[in-house]
Amino acid sequence: MAINCIRLITAGSDAPGMNSVVRAVTRAAIYNGLQVKAVYRGFKGLYNGEIVEFHTQNVSNIIQQGGTILRTSPCPEFTTPEGREQAYKNMTEAGIDALVVVGGDGTMMGTRIFAQEFDVPCIGIPATIDNDIYGTDTTVGYDTALNTIIDAVDKIRDTATSHQRLFFVEVRGGSAAGFLALNGAIASGCEECIIPEIEAKEDQVGQYVQNGFKKTKNSSIVLVAETKETGGALQYAEQVKREFPGLDVRVSILRHLLRGGQPSAHDRIIASRMGVASIDALMEGQRNVMIGLQNDEIVYVPFSKVIKNVKPIDKDLMDILHNLSI
Ligand code: F6P
Repeated sequence: MAINCIRLITAGSDAPGMNSVVRAVTRAAIYNGLQVKAVYRGFKGLYNGEIVEFHTQNVSNIIQQGGTILRTSPCPEFTTPEGREQAYKNMTEAGIDALVVVGGDGTMMGTRIFAQEFDVPCIGIPATIDNDIYGTDTTVGYDTALNTIIDAVDKIRDTATSHQRLFFVEVRGGSAAGFLALNGAIASGCEECIIPEIEAKEDQVGQYVQNGFKKTKNSSIVLVAETKETGGALQYAEQVKREFPGLDVRVSILRHLLRGGQPSAHDRIIASRMGVASIDALMEGQRNVMIGLQNDEIVYVPFSKVIKNVKPIDKDLMDILHNLSI
């Protein structure tokens, strides 16, 4: 089937670099002679028919902007077969041939279901600060969020050292992922890190940090992934305070701060590469794949693989963190 027109969506949680993707997909599509219809507010806009034709100037001056100019919104209707049927009807009435969807794991899942139900070529582009998507080494937004973590932790370190305090700093991580916490901890020289993939015992954490203070440390910073499994920074801080009343403990929760800001150079580059690759994929007749980056090469990963597999974390990184925080 020859493709004439694409519909472009950003869905789920925003991530820095999504606008760089929007720019790249739009310009690559136009370069290849395709029409671009931008969908506002994610799947909600697909359902409601909120679309605007995009020309090259619609994406001028956005490569450096955080958030998503297309906006994003929950869409409970899209989780029902009737809602997806309505979205499909809107699409076909407007003469749309293919979908390019930018977002995280939930977005890939929704796109896969839609692609299975209707005869629409769909391409996914992974964009989430959490980096928790199988089939790609990195996601758009992850590098920027890591840089925001190191900036925040560097600042917290100043005050932690002045007061000789133990800080639990909570970072995001999606439903069960410690990529931000573990790599953020290594990059900012943290003393410890608590992630859902590796079981941690509260008393061990307190003991470890207390020993650190006794030996060489004037301050300690523990990065905690926000997930249910870890219980979050507040829970750890309370337990350690109870068990080690002598420690001066504080909590700092970064949360949405990590989703904002100008995308890093790395995120702008991978966003541009993945955006162009999404249009290349459609022109080659690919459908129902996510664009991934593996060993710095663009790959096409079938949605079925993306959805069925959990991206593993490199547990050796924990040893590196511990070896370097003595
Ligand atoms: O996926 C990105 C993310 O920020 C996760 O880290 C977080 O669990 C989720 O979105 C929740 O987002 P919100 O608080 O905006 O609903």
